Amino acid sequence: MAKSLAPTSKSSNQYRQRVAIAIMAAGKGTRLKSKHPKVLHEIGGKPILAHVIATAAKVVPPDDIFVIIGHEADRVREAVGSSGVNFVLQAEQRGTGHALIVAREALKPFDHVIVLSGDAPLITSETIKDLSAFHVAQKATMTLLSADLGNPFGYGRVVRKSHRSPEVRAIVEEKAATTAQKQIREINSGFYVFSVPALYQHIGQLSTGNAHHEYYLTDMAGIFHRARKKVVALKTADAGEVLGSNTRAEIVDLDARLRLTKCRQLMAEGVTIFYPETCVIDSDVVVGPDTVIEPFVQLLGKTRIGVDCRIRSYSVIKDSEVDDNVVINPLTVTDEARISRGAIVGPYSRLRPGTEIGEDAHVGNFVETKKMRMGKSSKANHLAYLGDAEIGERVNVGAGTITCNYDGANKHKTVIEDGVFVGSNSTLIAPVRIGRGAYIAAASSITEDVPSDALALGRARQTTKEGWAAAKRASQVSKKPKT
Ligand code: UD1
Ligand code: CA
Repeated sequence: MAKSLAPTSKSSNQYRQRVAIAIMAAGKGTRLKSKHPKVLHEIGGKPILAHVIATAAKVVPPDDIFVIIGHEADRVREAVGSSGVNFVLQAEQRGTGHALIVAREALKPFDHVIVLSGDAPLITSETIKDLSAFHVAQKATMTLLSADLGNPFGYGRVVRKSHRSPEVRAIVEEKAATTAQKQIREINSGFYVFSVPALYQHIGQLSTGNAHHEYYLTDMAGIFHRARKKVVALKTADAGEVLGSNTRAEIVDLDARLRLTKCRQLMAEGVTIFYPETCVIDSDVVVGPDTVIEPFVQLLGKTRIGVDCRIRSYSVIKDSEVDDNVVINPLTVTDEARISRGAIVGPYSRLRPGTEIGEDAHVGNFVETKKMRMGKSSKANHLAYLGDAEIGERVNVGAGTITCNYDGANKHKTVIEDGVFVGSNSTLIAPVRIGRGAYIAAASSITEDVPSDALALGRARQTTKEGWAAAKRASQVSKKPKT
């Protein structure tokens, strides 16, 4: 592990060595048939490469991480730049060996380099540390992580010196493998540790005499072996960690694995998730214990959910903050919303960016909100649009209430103070303010501010014509043509 390479112990000088991590991420990903670079395809709600960087950053500081980029380099740099890692440009992508050739200057100050694949995101920091520790313990020049796969097709195969030996003679790529070598189920994961001086002393021996006319980093195994330098393989117990993402099917498989792992982790932390295989929970989502997540729920982006909540089926919660003891009823969609403790939302509510629902407030079916703050214990239970609105505490918003916030050119604000009762089917034509404790009669169109404790009626008075309907029916009977 990195610690054993650079421990704090002052007595063991030989261990005080600098370790870098290089992440190969310059390839195009031809097999995806995509206009987007492979490493920016997403699993668990963020780019594949972002997962690899996050894991690497648990092993060494971002200063010592070098991401090798090439295809769509600017886009890749922009997508993961905030992590604080360094970038090395591989302008022309001439293979995994070439990726390390161009990183020579950047890696020179280091003693060892851990090489990761930008397209294999399930690797854990524990496994990387184990690989590092094995490299040191074996005093190896090159150490690779291997795995036994049921279907090794497409991967490089590990040719060991002998069955039981940790030492490796060569790595053979699928296309160059003999029939016998194709039977080998031990594959090269694409994760390595190299001694930096030895790597650059010998890397010049790589050549492009292979099926892809590329410099294969994997050929270093044979080169070192011939130079009598020690090459070893550490076989991982969890083959799932080394899976790559060369095809769409593989990406979807990685996504499913990652999300299931996320669900298991949340469950271990006290969250109940029914039918977890139907739920889509992004990697960075946080959920508190005793919260129950029903089938077919999506929790996306930076969503945080408190304790003792219930998130009911078919709700899609994105980049939202949900406090403790909240119930999100089925088919609720939220985006950049905040929901305070004890609130009840849905079914069929849509909370758009800038929504803040107060403590114990209720927002019910077919209610859409946007840039709206609703205070404690207020209610909008049915069929409403509340946009650019500030709503106080204990307000009752009747069914069918609409804030008319847009005049075709500009947005205007509606303010509804504490304790207001808005009768059903009212249109509040902004800018407008309803004073504390006022009543709005049902079906009113309110265009003027309403003072506190007033009643506002904004509709035509009802006219009733006694007997009118009976008279109409009678006249229709007399007009009926004779048969
Ligand atoms: C590679 C290994 C193979 C191993 C497999 C594990 C080689 C030759 N083969 O094959 O033995 O079983 O990984 O997943 O290394 N990249 C660059 N620059 C380049 C080419 C590639 O940065 O010029 C990057 C890619 O973006 C990718 C990574 O290196 O993230 C691996 O490249 P890829 O083409 O996917 O290698 P594989 O064919 O999977
Ligand atoms: Ca790959």
